[in-house]
Amino acid sequence: MMMDRKESPAIQWDGEQLILLDQRLLPQEEIYLTIQDVEGAADAIRSMVVRGAPAIGITAAYGVVLAARNRLGVDAAAPACVAWRSALEDDLDELSQARPTAINLHWAIERMRLLLDGGEEGLLERLQREAEQIHQEDIDACKTMGRLGAAYIESGSGVLTHCNAGALATGGYGTALGVIRAAWEEKRLSAVYADETRPWLQGARLTAWELIRDQIPVSLLADGASSWLMKQKKVQWVVVGSDRIAANGDVANKIGTYAAAIAARYHGVKFMVVAPTSTIDRAVPHGDQIPIEVRESQELFACLEGGRIAAQDASGWNPVFDVTPAELVDVIVTEKGVVEKPNREKIAALFET
Ligand code: MRU
Repeated sequence: MMMDRKESPAIQWDGEQLILLDQRLLPQEEIYLTIQDVEGAADAIRSMVVRGAPAIGITAAYGVVLAARNRLGVDAAAPACVAWRSALEDDLDELSQARPTAINLHWAIERMRLLLDGGEEGLLERLQREAEQIHQEDIDACKTMGRLGAAYIESGSGVLTHCNAGALATGGYGTALGVIRAAWEEKRLSAVYADETRPWLQGARLTAWELIRDQIPVSLLADGASSWLMKQKKVQWVVVGSDRIAANGDVANKIGTYAAAIAARYHGVKFMVVAPTSTIDRAVPHGDQIPIEVRESQELFACLEGGRIAAQDASGWNPVFDVTPAELVDVIVTEKGVVEKPNREKIAALFET
């Protein structure tokens, strides 16, 4: 399956190798990296060449295919490994440790792992089909969620988004940006605002890049300006993605989402979370139990690859996700339907249909 770069700019599979758009370099440079082994896939996730929960899951699925090619000896350079099953299990473990918060990573790996039970015969073909299926299902889910979420946005509304939950963060089209794309096409939006999203600047670099490419005008603001934006009544909805949703509807997403949700409730602005059901972790009862990634303080001290801006000798604390309690969420939009005022029972009901 070779996808059009516009539909799926972040992740492409050419039948033998994975091609990833290096998101660390956007928007200044559009460089594609070729990944040929599982270590490369794990490293691309860890170092944020590819990021965003669904995109991480899809990359891991293709990473399993690369691992199998190597362990089963399909690549000429790699002799077949006799203990292929335990070797592959090690590869899957390595992949699953690449980043801690996005549950889509584990969801995709577990889905791929199930196929190992079918034995060596035809395994590679089955794994490749499954990875492509995971990829395509995510694009389809984003399109469905876009339509469902846009229906909630009244004509003439302004929206604010945080981080990048777009085509770059998914198989294509995006979760939060999928809703914004659909609402824009339906001419419902008066304005789109994006938090710059310190420290990695996913909003300023990636969300703005995507929206401008689609000719959707976007205004950037400093993260700390979002409550003032709401006070000015410039937005009626905050629309975000998620990295993991607990069984009770608590939502982990990029650091700063919680602050935006508190400000939204205070100002009477609605708060929408857009995420496929692969982001819902029913094994985690409460948001407090979601592991939160803490990255190097170095990300805070400088502006990306630029020189240090923070005072010398200051120390730092860099949690890169936070958890918004379900009570601050007005709707969770999934491909299986929309959950209004989410709680444990409503989340469970999603999986019964
Ligand atoms: O650290 P990142 O860039 O991987 O974080 C991504 C986010 O927090 C996104 O908002 C989330 O994954 C939803 S992506 C559809």
